[in-house]
Amino acid sequence: MTRFRIATTIHQGKDSLAHLAEIGATDVLVVTDPFLATTPVMDSVRKYLAGARLTVFSEVEPDPTVTQISRGVEAYLNADPDTVVALGGGSALDTAKAICKVAQQHNDAPAHGLVAIPSTSGSGSEVTSFAVVTSEHPQRKVALVSDDMAPAMAILDPVVTRTLPPSLTGDTGMDAVTHALEAYVCTARNDFSDAFAEKACQLIFQNLETAVHDGQDLAARERMHNASTMAAMAFENSGLGITHSLAHALGGAFHKPHGRLNAVLLPVVMEFNAGPVTYGPHGISEVADRYAHIAHLLGLQAATRRNLALALCAEVRRLRTAIGIPDSLTGLGIDRHELAAAIPDLAATAMQDTCTPFNPVQPSQEHLAELLRKAS
Ligand SMILES: [Fe+2]
Repeated sequence: MTRFRIATTIHQGKDSLAHLAEIGATDVLVVTDPFLATTPVMDSVRKYLAGARLTVFSEVEPDPTVTQISRGVEAYLNADPDTVVALGGGSALDTAKAICKVAQQHNDAPAHGLVAIPSTSGSGSEVTSFAVVTSEHPQRKVALVSDDMAPAMAILDPVVTRTLPPSLTGDTGMDAVTHALEAYVCTARNDFSDAFAEKACQLIFQNLETAVHDGQDLAARERMHNASTMAAMAFENSGLGITHSLAHALGGAFHKPHGRLNAVLLPVVMEFNAGPVTYGPHGISEVADRYAHIAHLLGLQAATRRNLALALCAEVRRLRTAIGIPDSLTGLGIDRHELAAAIPDLAATAMQDTCTPFNPVQPSQEHLAELLRKAS
């Protein structure tokens, strides 16, 4: 038995920001970062909310801490809004979700709820029911999870992503493809999550390179924006896998971008999940067969089903190289000796990650250590 839930109304397409004017908001708290607060996108938000009293909280930083969220809660209490608008990447959206959750726990939730306007095509936070928050003492990332944290509305306007630089477009795009491919093979996958994961994969492999190399191509930006949200709708209802477990551990220790870590780890984990000796009805493991199906959807060709699965791993590596992401953890700037010394602890941390039980092949701690060595 599985449950598939979509709690967020989605508006998508060029100029979909205009839907802000239809909410009926009278008092709005905008949660964003200092950069976006000064861009034309913010001017558009002001234009569409011209009839409302606007308070802008623009102190969002990457990897929001409890202290930063407390400041946001203070801004919320002062503004007493009926609508919260989150404008930015995963950090801005997660900050706004955490602020709204605190307000809700004090019976002071905004009447029109949270409107998420993502400025990156990757995290999918605009449709998920959790927020990642960094606690400072001790420093660690904590996931707040609650059904009622999913935004009421998501506005996927490609214009908002047009100024995203190529490296961030690439990193976040590789996060999205990792969401889709992990959701597609994880233990809680189902027909509904499969549908969104398959479509997300097609859109990402068709459009990510263009979005990276020509950020002004709004058609590619729009497809990437939709794909990222679809991939999140898949993993919100199915789960992820050990690419994310390992990326979470490495991100905590070496502070490298989440999407880049996923990009390096993903094909290594896919080869582990596909399994060299597990045979199913088609002569290969069920997971490898699912990779082969995605490869088929992408138009890849190979003489055997197993080679088709391997062709998908090769395609992930090709895409990664085409958008300028290195092929190893040391290539990302992680010191080889520091990494080697940290591998036992990283593997232990990844073993405890909430994503690990959803991986299609249950790894041992030594398997995780070996995967880190392979990706080094
Ligand atoms: Fe991710």
